[in-house]
Amino acid sequence: MPSLCVARHRGRNRLRSVYTLVPMNPLRDGLVSERTPEPQVLVIFGASGDLTQRKLLPALYTLARERLLPAAFAVVGFARRDAGGDDVFREEMRAACDRFARRKPVDATLWESFSRGIFYHVGDFNDADAYRRLKARLEEIDKHFGIPANRLFYLSTPPSVFPVIVGNLGAAGLVSRAYQPWTRIIVEKPFGRDLESAQVLNRQLKQVFRETQIFRIDHYLGKETVQNMLTFRFGNGIFEPLWNERHVEQVQITAAESIGVEGRGGYFEEAGIMRDMVQNHLFQVMCLTTMEPPVNLESGAVRDEKVKLLKSLRPIHEEQIDRYVVRSQYAAGQVLGESVPGYLQEPGVAHDSTTETFVALKLHVDNWRWGRVPIYLRAAKRMPKKITDITVKFRDAPHQLFQSGNGAGAVPNLLTIRIQPDEGIAIHFGSKVPGPAMTLAPVNMEFRYGAAFGQDPPEAYERLILDAMLGDSTLFIRDDETEASWAFISRIHDAWAAQRKRALPYYPAGTWGPEEADGLMGPEEATWRKP
Ligand code: BG6
Repeated sequence: MPSLCVARHRGRNRLRSVYTLVPMNPLRDGLVSERTPEPQVLVIFGASGDLTQRKLLPALYTLARERLLPAAFAVVGFARRDAGGDDVFREEMRAACDRFARRKPVDATLWESFSRGIFYHVGDFNDADAYRRLKARLEEIDKHFGIPANRLFYLSTPPSVFPVIVGNLGAAGLVSRAYQPWTRIIVEKPFGRDLESAQVLNRQLKQVFRETQIFRIDHYLGKETVQNMLTFRFGNGIFEPLWNERHVEQVQITAAESIGVEGRGGYFEEAGIMRDMVQNHLFQVMCLTTMEPPVNLESGAVRDEKVKLLKSLRPIHEEQIDRYVVRSQYAAGQVLGESVPGYLQEPGVAHDSTTETFVALKLHVDNWRWGRVPIYLRAAKRMPKKITDITVKFRDAPHQLFQSGNGAGAVPNLLTIRIQPDEGIAIHFGSKVPGPAMTLAPVNMEFRYGAAFGQDPPEAYERLILDAMLGDSTLFIRDDETEASWAFISRIHDAWAAQRKRALPYYPAGTWGPEEADGLMGPEEATWRKP
């Protein structure tokens, strides 16, 4: 079933379906003929956590506001903390939506009806009885709301308890492999910490669920601008002919954040920016930027192309590691006018930690399209500002007839896709400076989402939760995809582990990273962009 935005047009208040009916295919889930989710219950494991408050409930509330939720719908928060029952949980969630929902403040009348479908279930993740009680509770809720036992589970807990939750769901008879009524599970990141643990987790999940029931989430795929990469590349005729090694000199993808580890020192020590941002978010962005056109927009077709791309990445061997990867850590500095501590001074961080908060990589995609083109990725905390963007640098004209105004030669032709903030696309090229001389100056051609569409893009979680409710897995990660990206990243972690423990180069917080990162680029290449 076609499932991406080109086939989906939202009206002002509700979703207008422009789908053609497709025949039922027993191998795939979610084959619905229209884009309204079926009645269902969403169960969130880890309901007392930050993600539930900041993202999940606000996203559900916004979906309710846009009338995109099913006619019969309930959400059950499952957590260890005895928080005082349904009413207290509802109040907490209302406060969360008041703070974090895209449309604020919460509409009292809407909240009244929406909150009647919110429940709280106290239970220890290890306690089989808590799942038996959950089952009884879900049956009551089904009966009350007229829901035909469709269940969407959401794992928003630390990954260490994923296996035990999945095992207990299976043992309590809460998972049906049937197509109707259906069961699905959304799994939050991190999905494993290396290739082996990702494979183990995939096996554990698949003892209970079919692959088509598993929705591995990466919130970057819910961002409008990330999805727009597909429409930009494959919905227009003018860019794709240039999107290859004949015309592109290099690609740079940056995910810079001004924040530090924000009280998550313990987590970050285990992860580092490579696991936190690169293996998942940046690799997804890279895949959509560089993959081949899918044959159609079905989830299998899109994900096949991403897997092919990941498998074409040239592996970085242990002895090459310093030539292709630079890691670094922030020291104390100034960010947006404020003094901030260094990484080693953050709570929960070891005084001699070698966990990276900055990483830059030079990658090669060994295929016909990208043969000679380096793809540079960079992710970091405590940069001067938050910005995620992709810049494609085109080759210079083969012969330079003109001088740029400052005598520096050709004006680079750049195409920049700003994923966030100030979502948009800019093309940077040389234009004649008015006057008698034939000199060039750099100018920009700009597209801005806000100005073009007059609205802010929706939150990533709104789109992704809705898609999971609909059974559309196009924007979720498949088992082989997660394993292919870990296969590449784990090799780098292994190489780092084999290096003698050595202090990392530092960059002062509030700067664009260590000088060493410039060394990844050849002398004739552009430098890292400082957006
Ligand atoms: C999360 C990471 O997945 O993505 C965080 O764990 C990071 O460390 C965040 O800050 C960035 O997401 P966004 O949407 O703000 O770019």
